[in-house]
Amino acid sequence: MDQPIRMKSNGQITVSLNSQKRKSLTKELPVPPVVPKVIPPEHSALKEIEDELGALVGMEEMKRMIKEIYAWIFVNKKREEVGMKARKQALHMMFKGNPGTGKTTVARLIGKLFLKMNVLSKGHLIEAERADLVGEYIGHTAQKTRDLIKKAQGGILFIDEAYSLGRGGEKDFGKEAIDTLVKHMEDKQHEFILILAGYSREMDHFLTLNPGLHSRFPLVIDFPNYTIDQLMEIASRMLDEREYTLSHEAEKKLKDHLIWVKAVLNPNSFSNGRYVRNIIEKSIRAQAMRLLLQNSFDKHELLTLRSNDLVFEED
Ligand SMILES: Nc1ncnc2c1ncn2[C@@H]1O[C@H](COP(=O)(O)OP(=O)(O)OP(=O)(O)O)[C@@H](O)[C@H]1O
Ligand SMILES: [Mg+2]
Repeated sequence: MDQPIRMKSNGQITVSLNSQKRKSLTKELPVPPVVPKVIPPEHSALKEIEDELGALVGMEEMKRMIKEIYAWIFVNKKREEVGMKARKQALHMMFKGNPGTGKTTVARLIGKLFLKMNVLSKGHLIEAERADLVGEYIGHTAQKTRDLIKKAQGGILFIDEAYSLGRGGEKDFGKEAIDTLVKHMEDKQHEFILILAGYSREMDHFLTLNPGLHSRFPLVIDFPNYTIDQLMEIASRMLDEREYTLSHEAEKKLKDHLIWVKAVLNPNSFSNGRYVRNIIEKSIRAQAMRLLLQNSFDKHELLTLRSNDLVFEED
């Protein structure tokens, strides 16, 4: 059976979301199912966590990973109670995937869930990019990076397009930012969680820039591009949430368009969930204009996006 969690020889775990088949040269370990089908009543937090995760389409392995962390924390408490060793593990993560595959969404959710699980004391998310970390003179970068880490205490520091820190080579201040991050993620490993995100290939290269980087990310999560069915499901949930629905014709038109766009666009530039969200938001505005001109505001009309309302443009 194809198991999407792979244990690498360096102790890293790679989690592949959406369980699409991937080639792997690493050894596959059998992973027993760890979460029972029925959750015992005392784990209401786990139930709440499941409900929150349920709102996301696909990502089965990420969902399992979070539940495993919950179980591990709970069991550690039990071990402590009987005087056994209960080690803390660093939970820094690397998210690898194309635009709009849910990286920021998952990071935000993990903050919330880890707060519920008492892994984090605040659970907030500080989103940063190169310009927030890298300064203009010697010493400035380390200071800026330390300030951000301070802000992220008790929560998550999420660095998007982290590979851009490696741009510019040895003389670039980006390297100072990486060195400062590496130092603090070890010293303060139980006070904040660092999540680095970016395209798969660039992130692999990024890991080679500092010998300490690789081993400090025990959790590497792949965010594959969504399938057409998953994109349609994402669209349907976004519409439900906004209290809209697609007419049959509109639904077919959207699906055909997604099939076409995925076929013609380079997979690295198709923005997955964000692409769907943009279509929906533009189409909602187009429907509003149509209804205004038609002067028809009955409940069914207010609810329905028709095929002519759908707006397809490049992001
Ligand atoms: N699995 C999913 N289920 C439901 N909605 C999703 C899912 N994945 C992404 N989305 C939606 O798609 C949009 C883009 O997601 P998000 O911003 O998390 O992507 P990203 O990977 O951070 O993109 P980027 O790399 O460009 O920053 C959001 O509106 C999000 O709600
Ligand atoms: Mg993002």
